[in-house]
Amino acid sequence: MKRATKDFYADLTRDYSTKIRQLVPRYDEMVECILELLELCSPRTVLDIGAGIGNVSALVLCRIPGSRVTAVEPSDEMIAEARRLNDCSGDRIEFVHKDILDFVPDGGFDAIFSNLVVHNIPLDERRPLLGRLCEWLEPGGCFVWSDLICHADERVQAHFVEYRKAFALAAGCPSELVQQNFEKEARADRPLTIEQMLEEGRRAGFGQATPVWTHDTFAILWLRR
Ligand SMILES: C[S@@+](CC[C@H](N)C(=O)[O-])C[C@H]1O[C@@H](n2cnc3c(N)ncnc32)[C@H](O)[C@@H]1O
Repeated sequence: MKRATKDFYADLTRDYSTKIRQLVPRYDEMVECILELLELCSPRTVLDIGAGIGNVSALVLCRIPGSRVTAVEPSDEMIAEARRLNDCSGDRIEFVHKDILDFVPDGGFDAIFSNLVVHNIPLDERRPLLGRLCEWLEPGGCFVWSDLICHADERVQAHFVEYRKAFALAAGCPSELVQQNFEKEARADRPLTIEQMLEEGRRAGFGQATPVWTHDTFAILWLRR
């Protein structure tokens, strides 16, 4: 992960739960959709890529009895918070303090999910990573890919960016953070269109790739090995 991106997420850690809901208008709806898709798989082993403060991992452990989560997160600040939040989960959660690009699993997973992370990964490294994710899944396993997206039509893209900026400010997000977030999206992030995500999923070897949910500049795909 690039230094500037790492610094951005380090700063986002404090009051993360408030900030993420200001920057992502339907964050709770996204998380609920991820949980429902994971429940369909009844996974015993789950990989959370870019777990952040570990809030979604914690919900997975609550919602899916008997599941175990491997939470991969490179940010020092985020993973410290994730450890605190999941203090009571014992050996049901394993933390891996690494970039997902450097991660090598011990065994396969029944399900993998990633929320708001993959758009940070450079395109030339993303394609091989998606191939590895498919290989890490047990046959029939699912990958829930929830992410920032972009729209092919520039007017649609500009409309939703303006909508999200107005939403963030109205929700009380400091203007400095709004500026930093949208500068990062414009300068460093590499979101794909839903069609490109589906194509990348198929190319990586997933047999089934379905868009399940979308709103403004976010989408959730369901991919099965
Ligand atoms: C917007 S936060 C999302 C956190 C959490 N997944 C959630 O649902 O709220 C993005 C997270 O992705 C992590 N991240 C960014 N690049 C990554 C990479 N290459 N490998 C693993 N995690 C990464 C960041 O450190 C940050 O914690």
